Amino acid sequence: MNAEPIFEVRNVTMSYGKRCVLAIDEFDILKGEILALVGPSGVGKSTLLRILNFLEPPTTGLIRFQGRTFQSGQDVPLSVRRRVTTVFQKPVLLRRSVEANVAYGLQLRGERVNGQVHAALEAVGLADLVKQPARTLSSGEAQRLALARAMILRPDVLLLDEPTANLDPYNVGLIEKMVRQINTEHGTTIVLVTHNVFQAKRLAGRAALMLDGRIVEAADVHRFFESPRDERTSAFVRGEMVY
Ligand SMILES: Nc1ncnc2c1ncn2[C@@H]1O[C@H](COP(=O)(O)OP(=O)(O)O)[C@@H](O)[C@H]1O
Ligand SMILES: [Mg+2]
Repeated sequence: MNAEPIFEVRNVTMSYGKRCVLAIDEFDILKGEILALVGPSGVGKSTLLRILNFLEPPTTGLIRFQGRTFQSGQDVPLSVRRRVTTVFQKPVLLRRSVEANVAYGLQLRGERVNGQVHAALEAVGLADLVKQPARTLSSGEAQRLALARAMILRPDVLLLDEPTANLDPYNVGLIEKMVRQINTEHGTTIVLVTHNVFQAKRLAGRAALMLDGRIVEAADVHRFFESPRDERTSAFVRGEMVY
């Protein structure tokens, strides 16, 4: 892995009305890493992901992405936004077949659809269900479909917002395997929001704790979990934080 940043977050705040829900002075995401973003509910993890995916502009501050600087309020070109893809906790699927759902993203981009759809479905273990209506999939299958749909877009950054929350161990295992594979085979940078400390340890190279809209501590996973420097990280790691 390369220590070069892909995202540089500087003085970013996000306010809804008068309420400030995010305030990050300085935080980098490194090219090619798997970063686990952990923290209780409501601390701003999803808000940070929306900003990183350029879905919502921050109230103040700037994001530098792949060396290009975007100030809050500045338009981010579609070609840049398309380098980043999010998989949400509950995927929104079209009322179409499994394969049509996977092909849709490519079609929207005006790209030719050929073997990638089947290859991606094969990779997530859905090759036998290509013709099935997507809305009839189990939650684990639906989440694997969402991952296949994101994968074929070949983003430089994949943002995963609690992708395995409420899934059974079999599906969690399959998704974790895919995440690892996407990262190693394509060098895709991955930001994984998870409540699962074990998952963070299994997958990530670095972990960061968010509380009250701020990054409390970010470190190599081993250091983060074995010898956290901040008392709040210790409490979180020991499972003493309620969420
Ligand atoms: N569109 C919105 N309007 C108002 N408040 C919001 C909006 N989105 C998120 N929030 C608030 O921002 C805070 C952080 O939310 P979120 O980023 O979803 O947290 P997390 O993902 O860590 O659970 C929460 O208090 C939430 O209620
Ligand atoms: Mg969230």
